[in-house]
This record gives sequence, C-alpha cells and structure tokens, in this order.
Amino acid sequence: MNLKISESQLVKPQLIGKNLIIVVLFSIVGIQSCKYDVEEELYPSTPCETNAMSYQTDIVPILTNNGCISCHGDLATLDLNGYSDLKIYVDNEALLGSIKHRDGFRKMPDNQPKLDQCTIDKIESWIYDGALNN
Ligand code: HEC
Repeated sequence: MNLKISESQLVKPQLIGKNLIIVVLFSIVGIQSCKYDVEEELYPSTPCETNAMSYQTDIVPILTNNGCISCHGDLATLDLNGYSDLKIYVDNEALLGSIKHRDGFRKMPDNQPKLDQCTIDKIESWIYDGALNN
C-alpha cells in the first residue's frame, strides 16, 4: 500500500489540528486491513484438500491434534485409538454423527467448538472412500 503523502497534499495542520490527521491516517490503514480480511475469506490461500485421505497420514493426526485421543485413548470406554477401534464408530455412524453435530449423537469434541469444515470434510471423504486402513 502506498501511503506516501507529501506535506503539500495534507490539509494545513494548524487549521484542523494534528489529532484529526492521525485519526484520518489510522482510518485509512483500518479500511485497508478490513478489505484484506474479506479477500482472504473469499479466496482462501490454501484450498481444502480432501482427495485420497489416508488413515495414517491424515486421520490419525486430526484425531490427535483435536484432543480426541486424549479423551478416547486405549483406556477409555470409547476407544478411538487404533484403526480397528475407530472403525467401529465409522460403521455405526457415531464418528460422523458426533463431529457433524447430528441429532441423536453427543457433539464432539466434547464441550469444545465444532471442528472446522475442512477437517470434517477430510474425515467424511476418508469414510466415503471406504475408511481404509491406508
Ligand atoms: C474432553 C473429552 C473429549 C474429547 C476432547 C472428545 N470426546 Fe468424544 N466423547 C467424550 C465422552 C465423555 C463421550 C461419551 C461416551 C464416553 O463416555 O466415552 C464421548 C462420545 C463420543 C462418541 C460417541 C458419540 C455418540 O453419540 O454415540 C464419539 C464417536 C466421539 N466421542 C468421538 C470424538 C471425536 C472424533 C473427538 C475429536 C474430534 C472427540 N470425541 C473428542 C469425551 C471427549
């Protein structure tokens, strides 16, 4: 952004006071940054990649990084740690039901905000491809 303003372009400081100039300059910076935010939302720099999801390289890190495994480790009543344990909840639809906050399922992650849409899409895509142990 080019904010070069020469002395002569500015309204005479003695007429309107320094404070107003500062307010105006900050407003310009503010408006520019708002515009930037909106553009980022409209055109995300990293599109969501959901093709050919792998249990090992995609799904396990999602479950680990979102706290699922801390609550649903090997010792929990509902164990999501390991392919065969997780597959039970794929097959009975509780995994997708809980992360998509569907009626009849307990909303997961428990007492935390819903996973972002891209993360949900990755899990759904993996399930759609047959929930392979890949
Ligand atoms: C703070 C602890 C906690 C976290 C984090 C958590 N869960 Fe749970 N989850 C629970 C509890 C408690 C239950 C109820 C069943 C039980 O006692 O194990 C549950 C239930 C479930 C169920 C069964 C839902 C149903 O209605 O049948 C699934 C599937 C599940 N969690 C998946 C996940 C996934 C996937 C994540 C990560 C995105 C996650 N959970 C994160 C505590 C947690």
